Amino acid sequence: MPKKTVTLIDNRTGKRYEYPIIEGTRGPAAVDMRTFYRDSGMFSYDPGFTSTASCRSAITFIDGEKGELRYRGIPIEELATGHSYLEVIHLLLEGELPTDEERTALDLELRHRSFLPEGLVKLFEMMPDNAHPMSSLSAGVTALSAFYYEHLKLENDNDYRQMAHRIVAKMPTLAAFAYRHSLGATYIYPDIDRSFTENFLYMLRAYPGGKLHREVNGPREIKPIEVEALDTIFTLHADHEQNASTTVVRSVASTGAHPYVAIASGIAALWGRAHGGANESVIEQLRMIGSVENVDKYIARAKDPDDPFRLMGFGHRVYKNFDPRARILKTLQDQLVDELDLDTELMRIARRIEEIALNDEYFVSRKLYPNIDFYSGIILTALGLPRSMFTPIFVIGRTVGWVAQWIEFKKSPEAKIARPRQVYVGK
Ligand code: CMC
Repeated sequence: MPKKTVTLIDNRTGKRYEYPIIEGTRGPAAVDMRTFYRDSGMFSYDPGFTSTASCRSAITFIDGEKGELRYRGIPIEELATGHSYLEVIHLLLEGELPTDEERTALDLELRHRSFLPEGLVKLFEMMPDNAHPMSSLSAGVTALSAFYYEHLKLENDNDYRQMAHRIVAKMPTLAAFAYRHSLGATYIYPDIDRSFTENFLYMLRAYPGGKLHREVNGPREIKPIEVEALDTIFTLHADHEQNASTTVVRSVASTGAHPYVAIASGIAALWGRAHGGANESVIEQLRMIGSVENVDKYIARAKDPDDPFRLMGFGHRVYKNFDPRARILKTLQDQLVDELDLDTELMRIARRIEEIALNDEYFVSRKLYPNIDFYSGIILTALGLPRSMFTPIFVIGRTVGWVAQWIEFKKSPEAKIARPRQVYVGK
């Protein structure tokens, strides 16, 4: 039997260091180098953590070469087409899909927990007019830690569950209030007769008094197809193992801070254009390109090493073949063409970009493929959602993932404060 270890040799001295290999249930193994500094006096160097596993996790699995994504072992294709986002919330938090009774209980609990403490509503008033909803949203989540300070000490599974359900249930309300404040519109409180996803659309769209837009034939009701499409988008965003924002959430968790502050930090990390902010940038970019005739010009810019322009919605650290979430969204987009008012000119530009990029040596050799953000914006626009709400929608979907990862971290016997080392090159 070969030994399950890796030996490192310092070629300056010939000294050998042997480390055990940790095998997971899927995906690459890892070398357990926790004692490397103690043994050798050296650090390992890996900016951007391209080769570093920071934890053991049983939540989400990605095989970037195969384009595979699973939550708790279940393929994303199965979850996106056969299960609701509510079921995915249960799956990520509890490890299993819910029974009928569990699903009903979770649905009712989230409806009733969707209200914000009234004092927190005043926080939005302090934000400037036109504040980007991501600013107000992260401020609102930080403020929630003051209203639920008791979640700093969680003593049993019920405490963890209550903390998790609270933040998941309130995030759509916070996002909707943040948006309505940016418009100067009256806040619409949640309606407990509506499901999680429908309620969010309702809080964005309703008029004071809770009525929906009045048309000649009566109110413009929220269509089931709209709810289903947004529900699928939430599912596709629900978790993505150790991405940048989740790593931030775990790092903040490692200091012992309040869970909602850790999630607010995740929101901040998600906002950037290289991460969740890309969905807003994709639509800006497609609009800037303007027509299919201009695509070549922008592709040339993306390839020019002297031009900082990047094709937004392209490339991924882990997916090197295709992003399965993007495939699902592309199919969804095609299905929605006849049912929703999709911007067909933007779709044509997006198709042309994809066509060229998939055959261009620059993109092929670097394994750059459309990611989830490339397609989500066109669907969200057709749902009547403004660009500034694209990243908050990512936040709503991802909240359950962040909170599941926070809980896993807290319960892990291996949890330690996140504290990387450096190679000092200064004076
Ligand atoms: N357009 C043009 N060139 C690109 C792009 C792009 N979108 N993405 C990467 N490259 C090039 C990059 O210039 C580099 O080329 P070279 O080897 O000649 O220097 C090579 O591809 C490798 O790129 P990298 O930046 O080293 O790769 P990374 O793994 O560090 O970054 C990324 C991944 C997603 C940050 C990057 O691909 C990117 O900035 N993409 C655009 C933003 C985007 O769509 N982000 C959403 C990611 S998916 C949603 C989520 O989970 O957040």
